[in-house]
Amino acid sequence: MNIKVDNLRSEYKGEFLDISNVDPSPFKQFKVWFKEALHSDIYDPNAMILSTVDQNGMPSSRTVLLKAYDERGFVFYTNYESKKVKELEKNPRLVILFPWFKLSRQLIIQGTIERVSKMESFKYFLSRPFGSKLGAWVSHQSAVISSRKILEMKLEEMKKKFRDGKVPLPDYWGGLRIIPSSFEYWQGQPERLHDRIYYSLQHDGSWKIERLAP
Ligand SMILES: Cc1cc2nc3c(=O)[nH]c(=O)nc-3n(C[C@H](O)[C@H](O)[C@H](O)COP(=O)(O)O)c2cc1C
Repeated sequence: MNIKVDNLRSEYKGEFLDISNVDPSPFKQFKVWFKEALHSDIYDPNAMILSTVDQNGMPSSRTVLLKAYDERGFVFYTNYESKKVKELEKNPRLVILFPWFKLSRQLIIQGTIERVSKMESFKYFLSRPFGSKLGAWVSHQSAVISSRKILEMKLEEMKKKFRDGKVPLPDYWGGLRIIPSSFEYWQGQPERLHDRIYYSLQHDGSWKIERLAP
């Protein structure tokens, strides 16, 4: 039996977003929207969809968690030997998308990538729970494996190895900082007359702000 999807339709609405009422800095505007996402009961408000493109032009997407942000960019943590990082080493251009549908919003950021310092990764790694630290040692992220058993065995091995609770930062694990070149703030509105405010980085370091048609 087919499940009908053509009649699934949400009404969007939110405060009107306009060039006159957004912050001239897309980073400050992020702070405003992120705060609202944090206070709106959204599950994982710091989850963002990261898209990369491989050498053949084939895109791929996955969710990662925002763990720090400031005017330098947006940081997440991952395995440096994973598919995404291999792709980013060849082509550092990427997109992240925050799907804040509960607020009738999405935020799309294009940019490039740089590794965060070892010290920054280390500090964050220290703050992780024991199990997450072990997880970084257990999984060769994105590699093909034959079964779940392999992971469970490796986990047991790592639990023994680091039974004193001191888990070092693996060389192949750390943070990546997304350096934005554009931001699109999308606010859903009734009758599909959505607001789209687009910031693009100019050569002189300033941000141009334009409205896009929905
Ligand atoms: C809610 C959620 C949060 C996630 N957060 C991260 C993260 O912060 N870092 C990470 O490497 N993978 C995270 N993952 C797993 C990734 O989506 C992905 O499976 C993994 O990074 C391997 O991607 P790749 O093979 O394309 O490199 C998360 C998945 C979900 C569903």
